[in-house]
Amino acid sequence: MEKILITGCNGLLGQKLVHRFQNDFVVYGCDLQNEKYLPDVDFTYQPIDITKRHEITHFITQTAPAFVINSAAFTDVDGAETQRELCWKVNVEAVENLVTGCRKVQAHLVQISTDYVFDGTKGPYHEADVPNPQGHYAKSKLAGENIVVGSSINWAIVRTMVLFGYGVNLRPNFVTWLISSLRKGKQVRIVDDQVGNATLAEDLAEGIFQVVRRKKTGIFHVSGADILSRYQLSLAIAAAYHLDKNLITPIKTADLKQKAPRPLNSGFILDKARTELELKLPSVQEMLTTFKRQYE
Ligand SMILES: NC(=O)c1ccc[n+]([C@@H]2O[C@H](COP(=O)([O-])OP(=O)(O)OC[C@H]3O[C@@H](n4cnc5c(N)ncnc54)[C@H](OP(=O)(O)O)[C@@H]3O)[C@@H](O)[C@H]2O)c1
Repeated sequence: MEKILITGCNGLLGQKLVHRFQNDFVVYGCDLQNEKYLPDVDFTYQPIDITKRHEITHFITQTAPAFVINSAAFTDVDGAETQRELCWKVNVEAVENLVTGCRKVQAHLVQISTDYVFDGTKGPYHEADVPNPQGHYAKSKLAGENIVVGSSINWAIVRTMVLFGYGVNLRPNFVTWLISSLRKGKQVRIVDDQVGNATLAEDLAEGIFQVVRRKKTGIFHVSGADILSRYQLSLAIAAAYHLDKNLITPIKTADLKQKAPRPLNSGFILDKARTELELKLPSVQEMLTTFKRQYE
């Protein structure tokens, strides 16, 4: 079996990747924590900070994987505005380290990226559309992409958006936060002027699996099929979980006064994922039906 290294394997996507790849590859995983969050899954875990150049390149040369999937990232979009240096180290400089490691063992690098590389003025976006990132997180993710694109190694970039799912020891994501707030009877204010595709983490892991299995190169957009506003998504979640939709009030993004700008009119054109990866990308209803089986 071929070997694969998954960085950020304790994160939301990382956990789903470990599950998806474990039967077909010899899996190695690394993350910041001392222990793996999936102790019952058979894969080799090593605590590694990917910004530590020597440690990560040594691990890659030692294990010599055929593929490296970089799902580690600094993902706090507003926090990135104040922790600029750390964000850049993780999302840009660490990608250089991975490219160096991959070059040494001729590994294929799959970099995970985001719709935030676009400014959200004219979505939905095709893979070939020109990025124009706005906040610091967004700029760092595009800079990470550019390092990969400019390298001479085999690479793929998988962009996704509004990722949700359930896993071990994870921070709340939009969907789990909304369900838990509505269950407590809390009033929530949700923006109706940010549109995009929600993505179930397992479906993204499947998309990445197909990229790897087919040794695909280039950029791929992978997400759920429907383009909805966050408010519409919230109503669908409330309906699926039989929660009170009257607790949800629509507001505008500007009302939140967040530190980082958001792409408002976003969304992905998914033809390439459907044709080249043969993905059946689910509707919001289908994703929520699947999610309800794991998150009651
Ligand atoms: N979540 C979304 O809505 C979304 C949307 C679009 C794209 N993405 C992209 O999808 C990818 C996966 O996101 P996710 O939601 O699964 O993120 P996540 O749950 O935050 O997982 C990222 C993992 O990487 C770890 N990490 C951070 N810095 C590291 C470092 N220096 N060395 C090694 N590991 C490090 C994190 O540890 P700590 O938790 O301790 O920091 C965490 O375990 C990222 O590239 C993200 O940019 C996410």
